[in-house]
Amino acid sequence: MRPAALAPSVVAALLFAAALCRPSSATSMDGLLPNGNFEYGPKPTQMKGTEVIGKYAIPSWEISGFVEYIRAGQKQGDMLLVVPEGSYAVRLGNEASIKQRVKVVKGMYYSITFSAARTCAQEEKLNVSVAPDWGVLPMQTMYSSNGWDSYAWAWQAEVDVAEIVIHNPGIEEDPACGPLIDSIAIKALYPPRATNMNLLKNGNFEEGPYIFANTSWGVLIPPNIEDDHSPLPGWMVESLKAVKYIDSDHFSVPDGKRAVELVAGKESAIAQVVRTVPGKVYALTFSVGDASNSCEGSMVVEAFAGRDTVKVPYQSKGKGGYKRAVLRFVAASARTRIMFYSTFYTMRSDDFSSLCGPVLDDVKLLSVRKP
Ligand SMILES: *[C@@H]1O[C@H](CO)[C@@H](O)[C@H](O)[C@H]1NC(C)=O
Ligand SMILES: *[C@@H]1O[C@H](CO)[C@@H](O)[C@H](O)[C@H]1NC(C)=O
Repeated sequence: MRPAALAPSVVAALLFAAALCRPSSATSMDGLLPNGNFEYGPKPTQMKGTEVIGKYAIPSWEISGFVEYIRAGQKQGDMLLVVPEGSYAVRLGNEASIKQRVKVVKGMYYSITFSAARTCAQEEKLNVSVAPDWGVLPMQTMYSSNGWDSYAWAWQAEVDVAEIVIHNPGIEEDPACGPLIDSIAIKALYPPRATNMNLLKNGNFEEGPYIFANTSWGVLIPPNIEDDHSPLPGWMVESLKAVKYIDSDHFSVPDGKRAVELVAGKESAIAQVVRTVPGKVYALTFSVGDASNSCEGSMVVEAFAGRDTVKVPYQSKGKGGYKRAVLRFVAASARTRIMFYSTFYTMRSDDFSSLCGPVLDDVKLLSVRKP
């Protein structure tokens, strides 16, 4: 029987069924993974309380270990569980994981963005992997008031199917204390090159991980200790804490659509190593501002170029705005480390549990004549 011979309602039912049981490899396009927000759940017979029974019970996903299917508004003790997108999320217990295969193009760079919330455990970590790459993302510090943060991680595809795994390696006494996960999206990255207009790559931060249209808390670029492939192409996040990637739809951004917010004082530094000619004079110019997110007070961004440094004060009213700054330096070697961090910690005036900080954008490095 040809599909055209089917009644529209039957076709619709088949399409719906097809959406529910996608083949194990969906083709990747920028955006949410198939059932990436877990709105399609297990059948009642595949659940024991909130626990999901059966490897393939959640459409498009393969699970292992103690995975729970959580409905928005569900209570745990006296804690109300909030879900950032739609009505459902999953929770990964100790050693539990979720996995999905996605078609990718070998050799290309990709990033995934997902939202996660700690529940009762104080320190959570998630191991995100696409074999043979993996990264352990710490989530011990909360940056947003509702407990949810979005995280990015990137890899270079070595084969044309990526098996994306999110694993909770934690060993908590209570298996129901694992993190909640929701909204998993993928984005192909196109690492920009340095040009004669800017010796820095991706100096305006326009190239970066997927940001959900409906989330107003940006995306954390985790510390990249064991990772060569940055979700923010060109840039490394050094030190212990994340930097936040923000968009002009939800924040005030000095230039273009994207920027970074230095949310954890000296503990979150962003850096790039550039080729320089020893003895030549360079000008590092950049914008320092605030994201219009009630992050108020005296801020200072410190910029480094090799051993040269400048402190740029910025008085934030938390309502947006920025200023330009410059660091002139004579290159001491063939490679110069450019680095930025915020001198102080700042908390949002509307929410004292959320870290925030100055915004950095539009970073340019050019060789200049000696004055
Ligand atoms: C993270 O997961 C990958 C893939 O399963 C594994 O090879 C790696 O050892 C894990 N890392 C840690 C620290 O658990
Ligand atoms: C985004 O938010 C709008 C308005 O609150 C809502 O109508 C829409 O369904 C949301 N989209 C997603 C994908 O959740």
